[in-house]
Amino acid sequence: MADARPFHWEFNPEPVRREVLRIEGGRRLEGTVSISGAKNAALKLMAAATLTGERCRFTNVPEIEDVRVLTEVLRDIGVTVDHPAPNVYEIASGDAEWLFVPLEAAAKMRASFILLGPLLTRFGRVIISNPGGDRIGRRPVNLHVDAMRALGAEIEYRNGYYFAKAPGRLRGAAINFPQITVMGTENAMLAAVLADGHTVIEPAAEEPEVDDLISFLQKMGAQVERTAPNRIEIEGRRRLRGADHSVVPDRIEAGTFIAAAGVTHGRITLQGAPCDHLGAFLKVMADMGVSISCGNDTIEVDATSTDLEPLRGCDIETQPYPGLATDLQPPTCVLLTQATGSSHVHESVFEDRLEWLGELRRMGANVEIADQHHAIINGPTPLHGEEVEIGDLRAGASLILAALAADGTTTIRGAHHVHRGYEKIDAKFLELGARIERLPEGT
Ligand code: UD1
Repeated sequence: MADARPFHWEFNPEPVRREVLRIEGGRRLEGTVSISGAKNAALKLMAAATLTGERCRFTNVPEIEDVRVLTEVLRDIGVTVDHPAPNVYEIASGDAEWLFVPLEAAAKMRASFILLGPLLTRFGRVIISNPGGDRIGRRPVNLHVDAMRALGAEIEYRNGYYFAKAPGRLRGAAINFPQITVMGTENAMLAAVLADGHTVIEPAAEEPEVDDLISFLQKMGAQVERTAPNRIEIEGRRRLRGADHSVVPDRIEAGTFIAAAGVTHGRITLQGAPCDHLGAFLKVMADMGVSISCGNDTIEVDATSTDLEPLRGCDIETQPYPGLATDLQPPTCVLLTQATGSSHVHESVFEDRLEWLGELRRMGANVEIADQHHAIINGPTPLHGEEVEIGDLRAGASLILAALAADGTTTIRGAHHVHRGYEKIDAKFLELGARIERLPEGT
């Protein structure tokens, strides 16, 4: 491997500003909110732009911290990223000077690992930090690495870094994942579009963001197609061209606002909202008694009748798409605290996604965490204002929801985590009538 000296690297993106949110609860949300582009699509599209030297243009990109971090990582390896207007990014990666993605990037954002496939297939080598290493916690990337090896890559792991190279072009292959993985599917696809020959990925993730990536790759001239619900087939091309693309709307942000309307007995309209991508979640909302109607690109949510008729508890289980999204488990749990009866929560995708319920309990929720995958929520219980701390993105947004429903004032520390994935979340809630204030930590 040529001249790779990870430890001489300096990656100094702007420091994250630690923030608190102060929320006075008990107000009904009312009005209209615009849904932003999907984080989980935008990051992969930006990575895909490195597959060509030509310029790619993206609109409807959410202005979030993860996009800012990826922009810095791309610039650091020599890719030009312009940001000519809000929500518009242009990427030109004529050449990458330094094919190295440092630990600091991976520590800030696990999704930086999505650069493995495209950089390896286009430039033939890359050194990339292991985001699942001991220093950062669990969430392995073994399936991504296995997929690259199946395509002919040679990968060594040393000192927390994967040193990957492709002797010549990568070769098309059958990639059979032992379990469904969203980013694993995407990484394999991004590598295979420039490989030599035919690739079949099975089982492939079915998330709408994966399809958004497929549609962008097709505009770039890639021959890639979903040939069955859980199968993607690719015929590798030698070269791809630049393309324009508008990022698919964020179904997780939409679901978060729907749950927020539910928990505050509110009535709101979501604009630019992807009803078709929310099937399993909307079924849970209907079962609980939140009234929802879908228009062309709007969703109307009316939970005002829950003043008289309380929400109904129900059992939920997260699953890969088209099942209930694990990213919508935390907002759904907040709603379940306000519903009558015992609701069983089965988090089947990740093993650390129920821990945040401890903070919800501090706000008055009656929650029993049975094990890493199961919890029971008994309701309804009134929530009260509290000082709480959040450690991750989706749980953070959900504590905002709990605070909106609570009696009194809640202070949420670690609120900067929420800006990783939600564009202007405080401004959007303010617009809907919430009392929410964003302050630097320590005030
Ligand atoms: C993506 C989303 C995340 C969402 C998740 C599941 C992005 C940036 N993030 O994460 O918001 O919650 O899908 O819908 O798109 N696994 C392994 N080895 C691997 C990869 C995954 O064991 O190499 C395991 C994970 O620990 C997890 C399961 O597979 O238990 C599914 O994870 P995966 O679908 O890969 O999630 P991400 O793509 O990381």
